[in-house]
Amino acid sequence: MLLEASDVIKQFGGFRAVSDASIKVEEGEIVGLIGPNGAGKSTMFNCLSGDLLPTSGRILYDGRDVTRVSPEAHARLGIGRTFQVPVTFEDMTILENVMVGAFLHHPGRHAAHAAALEILDKTGLAPIRDRPARSLGTPGRKRLEIARVLATRPRLMLLDEALAGLNANEIAGAIELVRAIHASGVTLIVVEHVMEVIMSLAQRVLVFNQGRVIASGTPRDVVRDPEVVRAYLGQTQWIAAAPDAAAP
Ligand SMILES: Nc1ncnc2c1ncn2[C@@H]1O[C@H](COP(=O)(O)OP(=O)(O)OP(=O)(O)O)[C@@H](O)[C@H]1O
Ligand SMILES: [Mg+2]
Repeated sequence: MLLEASDVIKQFGGFRAVSDASIKVEEGEIVGLIGPNGAGKSTMFNCLSGDLLPTSGRILYDGRDVTRVSPEAHARLGIGRTFQVPVTFEDMTILENVMVGAFLHHPGRHAAHAAALEILDKTGLAPIRDRPARSLGTPGRKRLEIARVLATRPRLMLLDEALAGLNANEIAGAIELVRAIHASGVTLIVVEHVMEVIMSLAQRVLVFNQGRVIASGTPRDVVRDPEVVRAYLGQTQWIAAAPDAAAP
């Protein structure tokens, strides 16, 4: 098992954003993590990446207890995450932004530069690498966010709505990019509201509601689960993306 989170609780004051969540991910999987707004998906990611300290519970990564180690240590061990709101250094170029990630494993400027160029090629950002990050719109920012994390050479990548706000064309391109990342040997957990993305990428889906995993299974099975329908299927994009989900 690459990742094994057991009974994770994250409490903010008296409110439990994550309430006894357990998830397991095998090396090589693409797992979808879905659920309504406020279900605790990003909070769970924050616990898995070390950005938040869980109130209780245990997180094992590659057999090692990482529950209480820093975000930097998580990154160094190979857990990379994108942020729902991209973290960009606005006045730096796209290349320099990716170099920030590359410095994790390449302390020398020359090596970081070379590593960043390779990532820019893979992510399709090479032609605009010298532009300032502030010139980017949503699709470019989302792609830069993925590139910055890729530059840290993750073994497990947590994508938090990395494809949100893209049009149909851009989504298709981003799905292709995520598939290529997976094919290169990276295990992924993908948080996404756009069902088309989940249906075409995820091998297995976990459904979060009120801080708990309420269902898991193949994408097709999960969209037919009555509890999932009750908690989340009121949202029409599901129905549009999975036309036979409503069939008996
Ligand atoms: N730092 C915080 N302090 C207090 N409450 C928080 C904090 N972070 C998140 N929450 C609350 O925890 C709950 C879960 O939030 P979270 O961002 O994890 O949900 P989510 O599933 O990612 O939702 P979305 O799909 O809208 O991104 C929400 O009610 C949110 O307001
Ligand atoms: Mg979120």
